[in-house]
Amino acid sequence: MADQSMSEPNRRDFLLLATGAAGAVAGASVVWPLISQMLPDASTIAAGAPVEVDLGPIGEGKAITLKWRGKPIFVRHRTKAEIEASRADDAKITIDPEADAHRVKAFGGKSQDQWIVVYGNCTHLGCVPTGFAGDFGGWYCPCHGSHYDNAGRIRKGPAPKNLFVPEYAFLSATKIKIG
Ligand code: FES
Repeated sequence: MADQSMSEPNRRDFLLLATGAAGAVAGASVVWPLISQMLPDASTIAAGAPVEVDLGPIGEGKAITLKWRGKPIFVRHRTKAEIEASRADDAKITIDPEADAHRVKAFGGKSQDQWIVVYGNCTHLGCVPTGFAGDFGGWYCPCHGSHYDNAGRIRKGPAPKNLFVPEYAFLSATKIKIG
């Protein structure tokens, strides 16, 4: 008989896994109860139900990791300096060229370029990269040394693609729906 506990998602799959900086720990502890209250039942989660994420508690320069459909998702609130640095590097993206502006979404006709939402699996072999690390200050995958910038674009290392952007949309300036 198959081990159901290993295959069926449940409420615990929505654990916030980690935060990018010490200050974000407090943010995560605030976010967690909010997400917990919104959890659909286990059968809905198994079907891959969308999940709403309140961005309010994620301060500028912070990030959270949540788990959805069994995969980590990074939600990062970029600073103005980070956005400018990323845009300035648009012409230097050689492995998987993509403009910073294509990595973000808009709400109410305004770019929400402070928010980066990406799957938290390295596009090389799937390890979970470390946030606020690496040569470009985005994410660093220690498995084989892939460096991503703060938009999740692969800049150096064996990974062939940028971190994938999940299907998501802004419901308001401070809330997104993933899925
Ligand atoms: S899995 Fe990330 S560099 Fe290999």
